[in-house]
Amino acid sequence: MAQAAVSVRTEGGIATVTLSNPPVNALNHAIRAGLADAIARIEADPAIHGAVLCGAGGSFIAGADIREFGQPPKDPSLPDVVRMLDAATKPWVAAIEGVALGGGLEMALGCSHRVAAPGAKLGLPEVNLGLIPGAGGTVLLPRLVAADKALAMIAGGRPVSAADAAGMGLVDRLAPGHVHEAARALALEAVAAGIPAPLMKRTARPPENAEAFEAQKAGIRKKARGQASPIAAIEAVERSLALDAEDAFHTEREAFVTLRDSAQSAALRHVFFAERSVSRLDRAEGATPRRLDRIGVLGGGTMGAGIAAASLLCGLGVTIVERDDKQASLAHDRILGILDDSAGRGLLSADARQDAEAALTVATDFAPLSACDLIIEAVFEDMDVKKAVFAELDAVARPDAVFASNTSYLDIDEIAASTNDPSRVIGLHFFSPAHVMKLLELIVTRDAAPDALATGFALGKRLRKITVPAHVCDGFIGNRIMARYRREADYMLEDGALPQEIDAAMRDFGCPMGAFQMADLAGLDIGWAMRKRQAATRDPSERYVEIADRICEIGRLGRKTGRGWYDYTQDKAGAPDPWVTALIEAESTRKGITRQRFEADRSWTAS
Ligand code: 3HC
Ligand code: NAI
Repeated sequence: MAQAAVSVRTEGGIATVTLSNPPVNALNHAIRAGLADAIARIEADPAIHGAVLCGAGGSFIAGADIREFGQPPKDPSLPDVVRMLDAATKPWVAAIEGVALGGGLEMALGCSHRVAAPGAKLGLPEVNLGLIPGAGGTVLLPRLVAADKALAMIAGGRPVSAADAAGMGLVDRLAPGHVHEAARALALEAVAAGIPAPLMKRTARPPENAEAFEAQKAGIRKKARGQASPIAAIEAVERSLALDAEDAFHTEREAFVTLRDSAQSAALRHVFFAERSVSRLDRAEGATPRRLDRIGVLGGGTMGAGIAAASLLCGLGVTIVERDDKQASLAHDRILGILDDSAGRGLLSADARQDAEAALTVATDFAPLSACDLIIEAVFEDMDVKKAVFAELDAVARPDAVFASNTSYLDIDEIAASTNDPSRVIGLHFFSPAHVMKLLELIVTRDAAPDALATGFALGKRLRKITVPAHVCDGFIGNRIMARYRREADYMLEDGALPQEIDAAMRDFGCPMGAFQMADLAGLDIGWAMRKRQAATRDPSERYVEIADRICEIGRLGRKTGRGWYDYTQDKAGAPDPWVTALIEAESTRKGITRQRFEADRSWTAS
């Protein structure tokens, strides 16, 4: 029998109130109504002295039910329920395990106390959905923890660990054992000791350092790049500090509703669900992934090194094979460089960095690949080279090992057909830099076995990527989208713009980098090889811009050769290059085009 949305069990004067809405206990109407009813009954029942609030299924609450956002509101609202908890005269202890996110954390803030399991994550991720907290998060959190800590959580959207939450005073107690028991014990203590003043009756806590707080806000504004919610988060925290709790609560709700009804939030909510719905494929449904402990990588260039590092960062063993000692040593350095960079950014502890290095084997022959469960080929984008390495693989790999190609454009069915067992060949198309980019295209080859495909999905999950299945075709999905983008950008180059102008406009729009910077990062040779392949079949009446070809022809292949669209020899970030400007202008002249001036249109920021 399905568990009730809200169940109450009372023992020794303490009620345990359990919310159940699998899989993540999102706060839909049934939960809100049931909880409001439970709070009222517990307040009125003289035999109950306190309560523990918990989520069913091993996790607390992942927030408001995002699916309800487009529907007419139904009472009680989430803010109403949080206010009821905050105003309760008996102790309420939130027993937090798994996640307490968004409205889930606001519920916990409504409680008089919070106990968390060591592995729990607590956060206000609304900003990622184009929102700010809308049930008191921006009012209650700064009344519990210092404003700078609250702002970091509200505007950053990233959850904190239970230990960090305890450190800042968000959690009263960590419970290494049974979190519900620990919460119950705290509730009994609170019955005897009395409860602290409700957060709605307190004043906000100022930042620890006023100057640093201003710098923090400036940093958030800079990073927001056109996204409204981080700016709204700053404003909400400022109001929380300046206004009394009632007024701050009211204005928070108004700001939340405005954002909820905005195009940005609708788009980001769409993305949230889209990202979760894409990683499905009927052909792999129900198949059990094969073993996935050690990954083989063929080729340690831009992509191979990135794929190897991504795998090591997620605790997998990696064997990488290069064609000679010199290339092997370069690959080794590239991978360690990425690990060091991750450690430098605090993403990897010193111990984990050492473990990752120890899990790496670099070789110049294929024999060590016999220990690998999945072998990803990332050698040059050339059909003959790819077929040759797959033939060598056939000879050494275990019969159950899955083979994957990272090709950008080549026909993986043709590659698969050249192997002894095409059913074990799939495509795994990573994006550069492979240890950073979230997208992974899983290329569904004609003969791929369901469990080989399931293994591809399993790797994507392990690497925390969004795995999107695509069929074999020229450029799959991402690169086909990118090709249209680049075509327009190339037309603009010939018509009057410069790469740095287009890139600046794209960054201002919110892209992390511009199209030409990105091309330099990925390497210009891949696209060049594709254009050469397509040359014979290209419609001669179609406008074709040759500037990128001219750049590649003299060996400027992007960052890896020190020059591409930009010059990286003096400035690591890349400097605009007069040579490129002259080339572009010469190409316009050659085609008889009068160059015009393009203005970056920023009018979109107002909407
Ligand atoms: N509302 C509705 N559905 C949700 C949901 C939510 N808040 N959170 C997750 N789901 C659904 C997912 O769509 C998915 O559904 P599917 O199985 O049909 O695809 C299912 O729950 C499982 O989610 P994931 O695949 O993401 O599971 P993971 O285990 O990888 O991650 C999670 C779990 C960390 C909870 C992640 O789902 C997540 O980050 N959820 C969103 C949290 C969030 O943004 N909360 C704030 C909501 S807004 C809010 O609370 C406003 C308030 O301030 C008023
Ligand atoms: P790269 O030129 O940086 O690296 C290729 C590496 O393969 C070189 O280090 C080379 O020494 C090695 N190699 C060549 N033949 C080999 C062999 N027989 N055995 C072992 N190693 C060998 O190329 P990059 O950019 O890493 O691309 C590799 C593959 O990934 C290509 O198929 C490309 O289309 C694809 N790809 C590239 C992306 C990018 O942004 N650069 C993105 C997604 C896919």
